[in-house]
Amino acid sequence: MEKIIFDTDPGIDDAMAILFAQASADIDLLAITTGFGNANIDTATRNALYLKNRFNLSADVARGAKEPLVIPVDEPADFVHGDNGLGNVDIDETDLPSEVSLAAHDYIIEKVKASPGEITLVAVGRMTNLALALRKCPEIINLVKRVVIMGGAFGYHGNTGNVTPYAEANIIGDPHAADEVLTADWPVTVVGLDVTKKVIMSNDYLARLAECSPTYGPFIYDITRFYANFHQQTDQVDGIYVHDSSAIMQVIAPELFETVEGPIRVITEGPAIGHTMQKTVAKRFPIDEWADCPAQSVCSDVDVDAYLAKYKDILSQAGF
Ligand code: BDR
Ligand code: CA
Repeated sequence: MEKIIFDTDPGIDDAMAILFAQASADIDLLAITTGFGNANIDTATRNALYLKNRFNLSADVARGAKEPLVIPVDEPADFVHGDNGLGNVDIDETDLPSEVSLAAHDYIIEKVKASPGEITLVAVGRMTNLALALRKCPEIINLVKRVVIMGGAFGYHGNTGNVTPYAEANIIGDPHAADEVLTADWPVTVVGLDVTKKVIMSNDYLARLAECSPTYGPFIYDITRFYANFHQQTDQVDGIYVHDSSAIMQVIAPELFETVEGPIRVITEGPAIGHTMQKTVAKRFPIDEWADCPAQSVCSDVDVDAYLAKYKDILSQAGF
């Protein structure tokens, strides 16, 4: 079982990923640490607590940063995730459990120090909490098992940004944090738009999931109605891109992904702010400061059919 701390900004696809992690027999979901992004920090944390309550999660919930390290906080992506971050489905806020008293980055430090070499950090929002943990306690670099990120777009399969022509949302939302996390000397695997936009769950697929997974499927179907409408409007996609669950899938089934190794940098200012580059493919904005950057893994391809089959299997078998 992989012990993970899941750093997230729920968010529709974040909620799907939380439930996917919970459903998997290969994942021990220790905690959900929250951040701003798809929703503001209050709403994102409320949504994490709502999921904990509704689906009986044992994971702790720790509240994270409310703004980026350097740049101002952006408006929440309510046009993608709805005003309440969960596709505007009704949220029952009565009797929500409490969050832990530690801030997310302190929680991460404490747990990682307590279980050296055992915890994988999976981050699918802005990387602010991870950067704050790194700044406060650089020793965690040698204490985490590995780090898996959903973020960025490296140009494999022609995929570029979803916020600007260069930048993906989780990176441009806090580019300084992303650069610190991706250049730290710990093993990082990045699951970016290069692969997550290849994994499309059609509306039919989501309807079948609702039937074969009574515990999680109907809720996933309901929250993805708003999200599917956004995809239809913006990219004429029938269904949804599967961003954040892909980071969980990379932990569960790394064999489904192809990777390219090489140092990564993030552009932190100027018109290409938020652009992620891997040295092996960096062409357009060459930067000189690669010298001390460790090689990280970027997912360049994914077996989509096997992925969708496995996702359905895992959800179908869980929660009875
Ligand atoms: C990322 O941005 C958010 O909208 C999603 O939750 C995902 O983490 C995709 O660019
Ligand atoms: Ca997210």
